[in-house]
Amino acid sequence: MYRKAWGEPRSDDSNRMEGMTFLKQGNVELRLLEGDESDARTWSSFVNRGLTTQMMFTGSIPMRSIDAQEVWKKERANGSVIFGIWLKDDHGEKFIGDCGLYSHRDIYKSWEFRILIFDPDCVGHKIGHTATILVTQYAFDRLNAHRVWLGVVEDNLRAIKCYLDAGYRIEGRLVDDAFFGGKYHSVIRMGAIQNEWNPGPDIR
Ligand SMILES: CC(C)(COP(=O)(O)OP(=O)(O)OC[C@H]1O[C@@H](n2cnc3c(N)ncnc32)[C@H](O)[C@@H]1OP(=O)(O)O)[C@@H](O)C(=O)NCCC(=O)NCCS
Repeated sequence: MYRKAWGEPRSDDSNRMEGMTFLKQGNVELRLLEGDESDARTWSSFVNRGLTTQMMFTGSIPMRSIDAQEVWKKERANGSVIFGIWLKDDHGEKFIGDCGLYSHRDIYKSWEFRILIFDPDCVGHKIGHTATILVTQYAFDRLNAHRVWLGVVEDNLRAIKCYLDAGYRIEGRLVDDAFFGGKYHSVIRMGAIQNEWNPGPDIR
């Protein structure tokens, strides 16, 4: 069962960063992305190297840490809910990505889910799966979202598998909606509806 950790005080909140943990499952923690210099520097140093962003718009334009901070600030002002993805293990903890709910439509009760694991060592370890479920469940159970949707380049098979396994369905295909590697790529729209969402028998 994925832990619904929002707002719950926890006995292991021993320092400030842990106190900022909002959602948690195993060693994956979603924390408020504070937008401080240190987080922004880590984020931009990975993203500018383009290690995991080849199939995303993010990373197309060089970003200074101050630009990243500005983007997060604007998104937050627009009502987006943004988390830093933190991984904890025996050696400590590290900031490895971000995810969140964007493009909020109040009347439709809809949100767009986005995720980026920027640390290449952390790709392919089910962290994306965990984060996707945590955020989507939070959207439905806490924000009363009716619908959560996302767009993913059709070549990004890892991401599509991750979202399918997390309970999203394919809804359509936008022809030539993205451009990278010198050519256009089509984008798959995926979505999940509140009263149909079932992330799988292993976590419910
Ligand atoms: C996409 C992303 C969130 C997925 O998270 P992840 O933790 O790396 O992926 P997971 O380990 O949860 O799951 C990946 C699944 O895809 C499978 N997969 C990987 N490469 C694949 C490929 N080329 N074809 C088919 N399946 C593939 C894996 O085997 C795994 O399935 P399994 O658990 O049944 O073995 C993460 O890799 C990421 O942030 N990537 C960089 C940025 C990005 O692409 N963001 C998404 C933009 S829409």
